[in-house]
Amino acid sequence: MFSAVITAGVSVVALASSVAAADPTYSLVFNHQGANFFNNWNFYNGIDTNNTGNVLYQTKQQATDLGLIGLNSAGNTIIKVDNKTSGVGDPTFGRPSVMMTSNYQLSSGNLLLFDAVHLPFGCSVWPAFWSQGQVWPDDGEIDILEGVNLQKNNRFSLHTLNGCKHPDASSALSSLETGSLVSTDCFNQTNFNQGCIVEVPTTASYGADFASAGGGVYAMLWNDTGISLWFFQRSNIPSDLPTDNPNPSAWPLPTAWYPTSSCDWQTFIKPQTLILDITICGNFALNVFNQTCSGNCLDLVQTPSNYDTAYFEISYIKVFQQTNGSTPSVSPEGTASPTGTQSGSSASGTSSSGGGSGSSTGAASPLMSVSTLASVFSLFLAVVFLRA
Ligand SMILES: *[C@@H]1O[C@H](CO)[C@@H](O)[C@H](O)[C@H]1NC(C)=O
Ligand SMILES: *[C@@H]1O[C@H](CO)[C@@H](O)[C@H](O)[C@H]1NC(C)=O
Ligand SMILES: *[C@@H]1O[C@H](CO)[C@@H](O)[C@H](O)[C@H]1NC(C)=O
Ligand SMILES: *[C@@H]1O[C@H](CO)[C@@H](O)[C@H](O)[C@H]1NC(C)=O
Ligand SMILES: *[C@@H]1O[C@H](CO)[C@@H](O)[C@H](O)[C@H]1NC(C)=O
Ligand SMILES: *[C@@H]1O[C@H](CO)[C@@H](O)[C@H](O)[C@H]1NC(C)=O
Repeated sequence: MFSAVITAGVSVVALASSVAAADPTYSLVFNHQGANFFNNWNFYNGIDTNNTGNVLYQTKQQATDLGLIGLNSAGNTIIKVDNKTSGVGDPTFGRPSVMMTSNYQLSSGNLLLFDAVHLPFGCSVWPAFWSQGQVWPDDGEIDILEGVNLQKNNRFSLHTLNGCKHPDASSALSSLETGSLVSTDCFNQTNFNQGCIVEVPTTASYGADFASAGGGVYAMLWNDTGISLWFFQRSNIPSDLPTDNPNPSAWPLPTAWYPTSSCDWQTFIKPQTLILDITICGNFALNVFNQTCSGNCLDLVQTPSNYDTAYFEISYIKVFQQTNGSTPSVSPEGTASPTGTQSGSSASGTSSSGGGSGSSTGAASPLMSVSTLASVFSLFLAVVFLRA
C-alpha cells in the first residue's frame, strides 16, 4: 500500500517536470468573485448552537443592511463581525456576524482556491473556512483555514470517525508535505476532537502577518490519491494558479497531504459543504484563550472596537472540476435538477471543529454536487455540439 503511493508521488514529480500533456485538466464550475461572490451561498440565521459562540448570525439581507457583507472599493468581498453595536450591560449579547454555507458540495475531482488579503483575527475572534459532510463526524470535516485569537499560524486538519489518520512523522509519506505535523489521529474522540493537524510553517498564513504580507491563496485538491492542501504567500503564487487553467500537478509539494492510504476518504470524507464563518469565544476560542491573549474572553464581546480586525477581505473563491481534458461521462445522477431552494436555516445540528455537543436537527436536503453540475454542463455541451 505504502510503496504504491510512494511510486505515485515519485511519478508526479516526473510528470511535473516533463509530460505536461498527461496532467489532469480542470474546468471552472463556481467563481465567487465581485458582484457574483454571494451567489450559491445560504446564510445561517440564528445563534451559534454548535460552537456556543457569542454571536447572532444574520440573514443575507440583515448582513447587507448592517454592512457586514459587501464589496470594497478594490472590488474585494468583505465579510465581517459587527464592530459598531455596543452590547455593554447585556451579558447575553450575541454580536452580529455571518455564517455562510455553499448550496453545492465538493467531492473527489474538485480543486478549490481561496484568495484573500485579510483574515479575521483578534482576541476572542474565531474564523474558519472549512467544510463538512451531511452528518458530523460520520461524513467528515476538513478545516482549510481556522484561526483563533492571536494564534500566529494556520492549521489544516480533518475530523472523522475512528480509522482515518495522517501518516506519522517517520513515514516516507509525511515527507511529501512541507507543513509541520502536529497530530496524526483524525478521530473526533482522540484528544478532545483535536483532529489530525498540519501547521503551515509561516506566520504569514494567518492574523496580522497574513495581512501585512498582502495575504495569499489557500488551495485544496481532492482526488483519488487523497487530499492536498497548500498555502501560498502572495509573493509565491504559481503563475498558472490565478488563471482559469490551474495545473496543481506542477505546483510545489503541498503544505499538507492526507493520502487515501491512511485515510480512505470513500469511508470517512463524504461530499462536503463549504462553510465560511466568524464566531466569538465559543468552545474553542474560550478554551485556548490564555495561550495568546490575557484576561477573560467573554469580557471582550460587548465592546465593538475589539472587532475592528475581525473581517475577511476575499479576492475570490473558485471551484474547479477535474475533466482530464476529455468529456466526463454522465452518471445517472447527472439528470438531477438543481434544488435551488436551500434556505440557510435548514442547516442546523451537531458539533463542528470545536467539539461542542449541539443536538441535531439536520434537515439535510439533497444538494447538487459539483461533479453532477459538471456532468450536466458537459451534457449541455454535448447537445450544443450535436446541434452545431
Ligand atoms: C492528485 O493530485 C495530486 C496533487 O497535485 C497529483 O499529483 C495527482 O496527479 C492527482 N491524481 C490524479 C489521479 O488526478
Ligand atoms: C490557561 O488556563 C488554564 C485553565 O483554563 C490553566 O490550566 C492554565 O494554567 C492557563 N495557562 C496560562 C498560561 O495561564
Ligand atoms: C470597524 O472596522 C472597520 C474595518 O473593518 C474600520 O474601518 C472601522 O473604522 C471600524 N469601526 C467602526 C465604528 O466602524
Ligand atoms: C480523471 O482521471 C482520474 C485518474 O485517471 C480519474 O480518477 C477521474 O475519475 C477522472 N475524472 C473524470 C472526470 O473523468
Ligand atoms: C451544525 O452542525 C451540523 C452538522 O453537524 C450542520 O449541518 C449545521 O450546519 C451546523 N450548524 C451551525 C449553526 O453551525
Ligand atoms: C465525537 O462524535 C460522537 C458521535 O460519533 C459524539 O457523540 C461525540 O460527542 C464527539 N466527541 C467530541 C469530543 O466532539
